[in-house]
Amino acid sequence: MEQNQDKLKDIISHSKEYGFIFPSSEIYDGLAATYDYGQLGSELKNNIKTYWWKAMVQIHENIVGIDAAIFMHPTTWKASGHVDAFNDPLIDNKDSKKRYRADVLLEEHIEKIRQKIEKEVEKGRNRFGDSFDDAQFRATNPNVVRNTDKISSIEERMKNALEANDLEGVRNLIIDLEIVCPISGSKNWTEVRQFNLMFSTELGSVAGDASTIYLRPETAQGIFVNFLNVQKSGRMKIPFGIAQIGKAFRNEIVARQFIFRMREFEQMEMQFFVRPGEEMKWYEYWKEARAKWHKNLGLGDQLYRFHDHIKLAHYANAACDIEYNFPMGFKELEGIHSRTDFDLKQHEQFSGKKLQFFDPELNQSYVPYVVETSVGLDRMFLAVLSAAFQNEKLEDGSERIVLKIPAALAPYKAAILPLIKKDGLPEKAREIQKLLQLDYNIQYDEKDAIGRRYRRQDAIGTPLSITVDHQTLEDNTVTIRDRDTMLQERVSVNELETKIANKASWKSILNDLIKN
Ligand code: GAP
Repeated sequence: MEQNQDKLKDIISHSKEYGFIFPSSEIYDGLAATYDYGQLGSELKNNIKTYWWKAMVQIHENIVGIDAAIFMHPTTWKASGHVDAFNDPLIDNKDSKKRYRADVLLEEHIEKIRQKIEKEVEKGRNRFGDSFDDAQFRATNPNVVRNTDKISSIEERMKNALEANDLEGVRNLIIDLEIVCPISGSKNWTEVRQFNLMFSTELGSVAGDASTIYLRPETAQGIFVNFLNVQKSGRMKIPFGIAQIGKAFRNEIVARQFIFRMREFEQMEMQFFVRPGEEMKWYEYWKEARAKWHKNLGLGDQLYRFHDHIKLAHYANAACDIEYNFPMGFKELEGIHSRTDFDLKQHEQFSGKKLQFFDPELNQSYVPYVVETSVGLDRMFLAVLSAAFQNEKLEDGSERIVLKIPAALAPYKAAILPLIKKDGLPEKAREIQKLLQLDYNIQYDEKDAIGRRYRRQDAIGTPLSITVDHQTLEDNTVTIRDRDTMLQERVSVNELETKIANKASWKSILNDLIKN
């Protein structure tokens, strides 16, 4: 764990050094939990957006995308339930004066027990070797069984207390489990209070005319209020989806862990409208499809797991997270929610407008049910960066920092490097750059020795480095070096486009996704 916290620190400083992420308004000493994406960070972020947009909108003919305003009519948030119910239960430690989310303290306690179970299973695996039966071990080993029961009983109490808004019950659970403050080490806790997460501001400059509006805490509501506009103008038939990428804002009390939890962040959300009664089928469909989208990046299948929600949000009848093994452990990356017809029905009621679909096959109108997929763009960024960041020991004893970013997402797809800065090599290199730069983001670099330039490209995750040397002038060939294997091959300049396409084009990554 300690080692992983160090890894997060290394990622933060690497991100700053190479222009991926800077602390916001740093010249004024920054603003807590707020970050700016730099020149390479915004490229990587745009590429993650494109991967999502293409996978959702471009390759599904029944999904279309929109871009709704951040400000919405204030009644939207009354109808959606956010004014009354978008709360976090907070608790303070009286000694350290630190504030925590009570549910997160409990989740972290559960995670510690889970880690104990995994350690015990690991011991068993080592002891029994090939004959080890994972399921049987988990069902019979006394320590594992005891800890599994412990988790079930905590989850049960937590669920009951949170669902009943029994804040005293949540506090009692924290006390009974003897959870201590990570800073002061004491169990001196305040009462638990609910805190609404929405930011509000005033619209209009004339006194008296001003009315309170909110910065949207999720992009989804921009989709719900446009359901009928899109359905009618796009002649969409159920089942169909509406996708959107955009900023969301939450007044998180405990915002930390770099870009994992911020007050201003970006979401990539898709609402899939289905026939009532078919929502569970589509919920399972989207769970699988979204897990496939993540795993298709090739960061490692073992880095993902599903986690069913203990407490369902006010709008959901089923919900789970896709969790990712960040440097701080497994945490939520994406939420998949079966939101029933809650939102559309609420908007019908509050607006007085019908939000229904006439289903020609059933010859009836209904309010569709909704299955939602919602992934945090910044968390995706952190997931990609934390798997990609590697400190490698090389055979000759030296070390290199390399970002093994999936090639299609890399800020630059290739670097063009003239071996030396004379003899016509820079001119030839510029010619090759021109050939490729209309299709791909290409970097040109002629400064320093070639070895140092390769290291620089490794450090920013450029999958291919193309070196122009004297032979290039004779036979129009270059060397092309692979970031991950560091192997070089000599190829004709005419082959470069195909080489880059095979490695890093959108087609290369999307092709794998649509294969069964
Ligand atoms: N529309 C449903 C919704 O907003 P959510 O689980 O609250 O559901 C969806 O949020 C995703 O948004 C999360 O899985 C996470 O990736 C991202 N997210 C939520 N709060 C965040 C925050 N404070 N900072 C960064 N990302 C956040």
